[in-house]
Amino acid sequence: MKRSVKALTLVLAIAMIVSMAACAPAAPAAPAAPAAPAAPAAPAAPAEVQKVGLSMPTMSLQRWNQDGSNMKAAFESAGFEVDLQYGGENEVPMQISQIENMIAGGCDVLVIAAIDGGSLTEVLADAKTQGIPVIAYDRLITGTDAVSYYATFDNFLVGKFQGQYIVDALDLANATGPINVEYFTGDPGDNNINFLFPGGLSALQPYIDSGVVVCPSGQTDIGQVATVDWSSENSQARMENLITSNNYGPNATKLDAVLCNNDSTAQGVTNALLNAGYTPDNFPIVTGQDCDIVSVKNLIAGTQAMSVFKDTRTLANQVVAMVKAILAGSEPPINDTETYDNGTGVIPSFLCEPVFASAENYRELLIDSGYYTEADLQ
Ligand code: BGC
Repeated sequence: MKRSVKALTLVLAIAMIVSMAACAPAAPAAPAAPAAPAAPAAPAAPAEVQKVGLSMPTMSLQRWNQDGSNMKAAFESAGFEVDLQYGGENEVPMQISQIENMIAGGCDVLVIAAIDGGSLTEVLADAKTQGIPVIAYDRLITGTDAVSYYATFDNFLVGKFQGQYIVDALDLANATGPINVEYFTGDPGDNNINFLFPGGLSALQPYIDSGVVVCPSGQTDIGQVATVDWSSENSQARMENLITSNNYGPNATKLDAVLCNNDSTAQGVTNALLNAGYTPDNFPIVTGQDCDIVSVKNLIAGTQAMSVFKDTRTLANQVVAMVKAILAGSEPPINDTETYDNGTGVIPSFLCEPVFASAENYRELLIDSGYYTEADLQ
């Protein structure tokens, strides 16, 4: 009996323990270790916006306004900050101080269309010291090794289009002459005239050599035919003098052609010829380049024979590609390593292709391509 009491006690005790254990509140599950708060994404370091200094020569000619605004738009849409400045009315000291400010203002690269290609040596020495690459835009910058690259249109070819137009339009191959031609180029400080003017002469030279083409004024040196600032007023004044001193006129000495290296000089020449009584029926051939609105209207009216279209959108995009490559440390696209020696060596260049323009093709070239609207040319 004693054994059975003991056994019963033992059973009860075990039962109690088991039942107590069953009632014990389940040990709370160890709280899941709170998820470590996600480390806040390190705020993306704001991509450093790179800044381009664009220095254009003047606002007084249509083309530079277009170059400036096309480049500004192209650079901004590629994510750059842009400092765009125009050098007043071709004012060299103003251009120099604008470039100084661009350097001081932290520009990462400079794109410069020089007023006077030889005047930037000192300011660009600063750019070089600070490691700021310089691209010469349209016009070569001379006498400094701070220029890394050059982007332009093929200037010799532009001149050649102009000279060749005169050759073809006057059928010089079959002419006996004398064919009277006068010459106008641009600003003596613009290195482009050293390509444009010889380019024009290159087409005419065989006929000059054979005596078919003559220049009654005798003004054939580049210094004599230069036009300060490429200004229409200056070319008009010189043409008026030539008309007087050579007795040119619709009923006087015949003037067959005036080789003008660009539209602004052509416009001055056209004004002088209109004032001398020429009409579209007897107008001498006047050449140009740029397809300025005024000149395209003259093409349509028959008071300028041809121009050369240099699509500034193409040049702007080319320069954006160059700048991106330079800042990324890679080689920019270039297609000429021979032609443009700036006095310190050949500057690697990209030459865009100019296109011949006249009353016959202006619509397709300029309107269909969206460069101008029909209304611009009214
Ligand atoms: C440009 C021409 C322009 C002229 C006058 C030259 O350097 O190449 O397109 O007509 O300057 O601005």
